[in-house]
Amino acid sequence: MAKPATIFICSNCQHRAPRWQGKCPECGQWNSLEESRIISSARGGPISKAAQPVDLSMVDISLRAKIVSGIGEFDDVLGGGLVPGSLVLLGGDPGIGKSTLALQISMELGDKVLYVSGEESVHQIKLRSGRVSKNEQLNVLAETDLDTVLSAVEGFGPQLVVIDSIQTMYSQEASGVAGGVAQVTGAVQKIMRLAKQNHITFILIGHVTKEGYLAGPKTLEHMVDTVLYLEGERFASFRILRCVKNRFGTTNEVGVFEMLHQGLAEVKNPSQLFLGEEQMQASGNIITSVMEGSRALLLEIQALTSTTNFGYPKRTAAGFDVNRLQLLTAILSKRAGLNLANQDIYINVASGIKIDEPAADLAVALAVVSSLKDAVVSDTIVVGELGLSGEVRFVPNLEKRIKEAEKLGFKRIICPKSRLSEKNKIEVIQVRTLGEAISKI
Ligand code: TYD
Ligand code: MG
Repeated sequence: MAKPATIFICSNCQHRAPRWQGKCPECGQWNSLEESRIISSARGGPISKAAQPVDLSMVDISLRAKIVSGIGEFDDVLGGGLVPGSLVLLGGDPGIGKSTLALQISMELGDKVLYVSGEESVHQIKLRSGRVSKNEQLNVLAETDLDTVLSAVEGFGPQLVVIDSIQTMYSQEASGVAGGVAQVTGAVQKIMRLAKQNHITFILIGHVTKEGYLAGPKTLEHMVDTVLYLEGERFASFRILRCVKNRFGTTNEVGVFEMLHQGLAEVKNPSQLFLGEEQMQASGNIITSVMEGSRALLLEIQALTSTTNFGYPKRTAAGFDVNRLQLLTAILSKRAGLNLANQDIYINVASGIKIDEPAADLAVALAVVSSLKDAVVSDTIVVGELGLSGEVRFVPNLEKRIKEAEKLGFKRIICPKSRLSEKNKIEVIQVRTLGEAISKI
């Protein structure tokens, strides 16, 4: 019998090579080429009979309501719940809480769910489940053989199947090692077929690589309907659930959770969590408002300036782009006439969140001024982007940011000039330039 034709595919960039090489010629990754069987579809043969088109107006969707887990922060990110027959990929760093979140959702839904784990034993799952939920009922399968899992799913007929993780599943029919391109792609294809035929929803947990992308082929993200990422800092307890792809809705909602001893708890008022109970009345501390999805969050920016003792002045930032800080420093020197040439500047965003929104520019700049002048700024929110000529520029969603500030009891907001429709309870100080903003603190 002829040897089946094979090809080598890079697990990083999908480059195809006719023979094995130690280094992928396309992306330069070492040891990433994996052998895979060629399934030829190009050979001649009869063209298959056309399938029957369906009249869309005749399709009844009323019977297939979304699966609502009751964990609001999760359901909202998906736009109101899990769509029946859909594939959801849940990615995130190791230990961030993917298994915990999936288990909590499963425990809420109880007997409609099959929880498949290729990573933990039934005993380990039992131990964890006792901590995260009061419910007891859950069907669990500890298995790594994909074909066994799928026949169990067909026999059992659940509404939702959790697979933890897709990289641990192995099928005899596909080639390569478990977690490799051929295995993972093959597994998702099989799962997809079963999901669409039987209207079963799957949550697939996926590992991420060092760079923070879902491990395995990028095509995986194209194949599934929804891609969720659970993010957070290792030393902070909050977790953000972000949707990066959603075939059934928008991707601009985020869910906020806190990792507690009893699993992930929903955070209904994230600003309160990030700001903490009481703010220190110290110079250099300024509260700003950043958008996470469609939500406004209040965060504290801390600046510290100190006289440079030796050499060049230092610019250091945690949670904020240091190049942006250099730029803001230049604007402060040139447009506001501050002497920062002999000052080290340190910026820290409290609570471990990373800010990448230009709307925080003015707050960072004013925090530096506040520290330099040793002036305490209290009860004030600051938002605005800074232009190179020192102008304070428009920020989107100003109304939402104002509402959030009001909700948390702040008295005034310094912001760019914009047309505001409603009457606000909070004092709105609209400024055009950096100089004007500095005069208000
Ligand atoms: P886990 O869900 O196993 O992470 P992943 O599946 O993403 O790898 O979460 C593991 C971490 O979560 C672990 O470091 C401990 C912490 N944790 C809690 O703090 N409280 C809890 O109730 C649970 C179940 C886990
Ligand atoms: Mg896990």
